[in-house]
Amino acid sequence: MMVILFLFSVLFLVSACDCNSHVVESPSGRWRVEFFFSSTGIPHYRVVDDITERTIVADSRLGHVFSESGISEFDILEGVVHESSSTEWNQPWGENTTIIDAHNRMSVRLRDSLGNGLQIHFKAFDDGVAFRYDYSIHYDTLNVLNELTEFNFLSDGRAWYTPGNFESYELEYLSDSLSNVRSASTPFTFRLEEVYCSIHEAALYNFPEMVLLQKDSLSFVSLLAPYSEATRACVPGTFSTPWRTIQLSDSAVGLINSSMILNLNEPSKIGDCGWIKPHKYIGVWWEMHLGTKEWRDGPRKGATTQEALRYIDFASENNIDGVLFEGWNRGWENWGGSQEFDYAAPAEDFDLELIAEYAKSKGVNLWAHNETGGNIYDYESKMEEAFELYNRLGIHYLKTGYAGGMPDRIFHHSQQGVQHYQKVVELAARYKIALDVHEPIKETGIRRTWPNMMTREGAKGMEWNAWSKGNSSEHLTVLPFTRLLAGPMDYTPGVFDIYFERARGDKNRQQWNGDNSECFIKTTLARQMANWVILYSPLQMACDMIESYQGHPAFEFFRKFNPDCDWSEALQGEVGEYIVVARRSGGSYFVGAGTNSQERTLSLPLDFLDEGVEYLAKIYGDDMNAPIIKQPDGTYAPDKRCYTISQKVVTSADVLEVAMAPDGGQAISFVPIDR
Ligand code: NOJ
Ligand code: CA
Repeated sequence: MMVILFLFSVLFLVSACDCNSHVVESPSGRWRVEFFFSSTGIPHYRVVDDITERTIVADSRLGHVFSESGISEFDILEGVVHESSSTEWNQPWGENTTIIDAHNRMSVRLRDSLGNGLQIHFKAFDDGVAFRYDYSIHYDTLNVLNELTEFNFLSDGRAWYTPGNFESYELEYLSDSLSNVRSASTPFTFRLEEVYCSIHEAALYNFPEMVLLQKDSLSFVSLLAPYSEATRACVPGTFSTPWRTIQLSDSAVGLINSSMILNLNEPSKIGDCGWIKPHKYIGVWWEMHLGTKEWRDGPRKGATTQEALRYIDFASENNIDGVLFEGWNRGWENWGGSQEFDYAAPAEDFDLELIAEYAKSKGVNLWAHNETGGNIYDYESKMEEAFELYNRLGIHYLKTGYAGGMPDRIFHHSQQGVQHYQKVVELAARYKIALDVHEPIKETGIRRTWPNMMTREGAKGMEWNAWSKGNSSEHLTVLPFTRLLAGPMDYTPGVFDIYFERARGDKNRQQWNGDNSECFIKTTLARQMANWVILYSPLQMACDMIESYQGHPAFEFFRKFNPDCDWSEALQGEVGEYIVVARRSGGSYFVGAGTNSQERTLSLPLDFLDEGVEYLAKIYGDDMNAPIIKQPDGTYAPDKRCYTISQKVVTSADVLEVAMAPDGGQAISFVPIDR
């Protein structure tokens, strides 16, 4: 329900512009965006810190290049409209139930000498600024050759990013000076002296993704993923681009606590969202990545009827709401080949009807899994039949995947890719199916408009630990300030068998994706648990095999954990160093803290807890006296398997000392005490 606090508009038209720039300020007056023409009549903008008068984004060009003739420079100003708005809205699920949207808006109406129109809408929030282009051009169809939007800076800063890539986001994060960044995917996070900034986009529909390309040391320009060799986007004559967004904050955690990306998206198009429920899930998944089981039919097949029933039993006994079985369907022998899967036919030893019935009887959500291998044509031709089946069987959660190249040399992140991912979201909504998309297009806040688009991968997730050098604790302390700013991530946290001892002992194990003899999890067990809180996903997985959890004292945390939170706050953190996040679900609170490779102790004031209430804090932490051992890659480190569990009664007046081992963390649950 949307509650309008107040909404007022100040509309005025500027008939002729004799001033140099048009200005919109954020509600508190913190940030200022200025629109102006360069001396040669080219539209530009700049962003200024209104308090210090420091320029954040220096004079930067705006616009696009089209292949059609008959469009000239938009150098005629027709009018400027200002508007202020402050509203509050609720989401069916998310980090916070209630979101405040307070911003000032300035729409600049431009024309070219041939009568084509362009409006540039600027919005200034206290947590950042954004703008989008709204074209009205005398053509039925247009080819966008290039975007000219620049992001220019006056001084160097520190940046955290993955290089721009139109096929994959599953790349190593780099940390470097801004001036050394050649290209970057968004969210592109950097610090300019005391101000933390992150460039991204919001409401990406029917347009290619934007990455940033260095033009010159401190000057970046938008680069759109190609549509074809000749063009980057093919759009109607009247079209709007996604918002270009610049989140701004005085603290690193301020970026995480911002709702600007969601506020730039439209309200939900799904009427009743009661069927879309955040939940915890487990699955037959990790064993395939470790190579002890496989997806395809054969003696090592992971998803069998017997295994499915065992997982459903474990879920229902452990307060876990969902189960996923990869390899449940036919076609896996074509993965990496023709990439043709059957999305409606169960594999040989997978009695889908029986399993669905059994899951229902146990109150557990059965998930479907659709690996497409990137073959979007095949998938589009079959998905409706599959969705009908899932709907009939009461399956409302679907993990999709695009591990493989798309046909016709279509880039994953191109306009065609964006169109495909959106087609799936909308069709899924019609069949009451919520999505977890792997190898996705980046999240740009469309979860507000399509709440069935619940979570996605879109960065190096857990799987990389099984068959590569894996993900460092630095990577995990960069993710919340970069990829996670876009929206929820299905990282699939929670491996308890840190050194893969069970897999190492399995004689039938086969490597399938490179040498995995030196692989292991690069964080402590407590940090694996903390990631359930830190790495927000409304669908949160405990990804290890159930054998690793059975009888394990620390698994109690996941059993009690509730990902359906109504309030969240990133409390402390610096990019790549440490992070502390608190979430409230019902009356309980959960905290996740994590460090990089440095041992660290933080003081954590508990003032986020409800005043006057006593809580039992159960603390799952690193064993700070863990013995040094030789790890599978030959390095020596404190044993990452060692953990401690302690508890104490606390109130909001207390301060906890959070001690974390190198690569470690802490997971804490706070449950109100009934007296
Ligand atoms: C890549 C996904 O990220 C992973 O979760 C999945 O298991 C494989 N593709 C197979 O679909
Ligand atoms: Ca993946």
